[in-house]
Amino acid sequence: MVPILDLKREYQELKDEIDAAIERVLLSGGFVGGPEVAALEGELAAYLGVTQVVSCASGTDALILALRAAGVGPGDEVITTPFTFIATLEAILHVGARPVLVDIEPQTYNLNPALLEEALSPRTKAILPVHLYGQVAPMGEILAFAQKHGLLVLEDAAQAVGARYLEEGQARMAGTLGRAGAFSLYPSKNLGAYGDGGFIATNDPNLAEEARLLTAHGSKLRYQHVRALGYTSRLDALQAAILRVKLPYLEGWNARRRAIANRYTEALKHHLLTPCEMPYAHHVYHQYTVRHPERDRLAEHLRARGIGSSVHYPLPAHLQPAYRHLAKEGSLPVAEAAAREVLSLPMHPFLEEAQVEAVIEAVLSF
Ligand SMILES: Cc1ncc(COP(=O)(O)O)c(C=O)c1O
Repeated sequence: MVPILDLKREYQELKDEIDAAIERVLLSGGFVGGPEVAALEGELAAYLGVTQVVSCASGTDALILALRAAGVGPGDEVITTPFTFIATLEAILHVGARPVLVDIEPQTYNLNPALLEEALSPRTKAILPVHLYGQVAPMGEILAFAQKHGLLVLEDAAQAVGARYLEEGQARMAGTLGRAGAFSLYPSKNLGAYGDGGFIATNDPNLAEEARLLTAHGSKLRYQHVRALGYTSRLDALQAAILRVKLPYLEGWNARRRAIANRYTEALKHHLLTPCEMPYAHHVYHQYTVRHPERDRLAEHLRARGIGSSVHYPLPAHLQPAYRHLAKEGSLPVAEAAAREVLSLPMHPFLEEAQVEAVIEAVLSF
């Protein structure tokens, strides 16, 4: 059996360190915020090379907080992709703005910058690219377009912690290229908590301060509320302590993901459409997603051989029952076709060589 993800295996590898971290928090008696959370925020900021990290309760909250703290609200339009987890769209709606969907590039599944122009309106306030599957969106073109038209860029980096955008010999971390990046710490992510969590990364101290206010009921000083609609959106100390154990392993785990992806691609590239790694991207393979016209039959074939797989995502946002008002069926054809054909294969840093070969063999036998 090769499951798509194996978090029990990860815990077994790290058990001594994780157990010690949990005990440290339990003995401290401090469970929300506090020194563990502050230390994690500092370590994440150093890792990403930003001045500010604000932790919160989920990646979805990180998106909402980033949008609100950047001043996006009712009457504003935010350009984004239909081919994402629904939280991207939900966050835009939560702040009272309107999502405007543009189609994706067929080879990367990320927002197609050539289509930004036709999505632009006098109400456009921001672009919210998603670094899907762990590959950074074409940020050079997106940032240039935003600069030309005076738009904000906020990044959905939920799937891309550790990914880089490569430009002129420089590597810049995904989630640090726009005004702010939103990250998820959901357990399955490349850096995952053992529960929910998320954070914002930014170099803008005002945005960070506003986001931090909002996480704590609109207050900076206890019982003084300067924003009416804040949240209870905080990271637990237990999660922070667990994440502090895991963060030093992240680069090695992402390297292992890349090595597994290389092996998959080498073995499968003549048989189905394998991921296209762009020259500007250091891809961290949150998912290894292939494409096949008979996707459902392939998934069933793998399942019968004990190989897990998953579809990210079976419907683009505008074909979801609750989101049909956003765009007509047929109007975003590249995303619609991708949703019918993509399939993610087992991918995590603890996959063994024999498991990788078993996945390859099962795909080839199809
Ligand atoms: C692209 C994307 N955006 C946002 C989210 C939301 O993150 P969370 O589940 O932590 O709220 C996720 C993950 O689930 C995601 O994959």
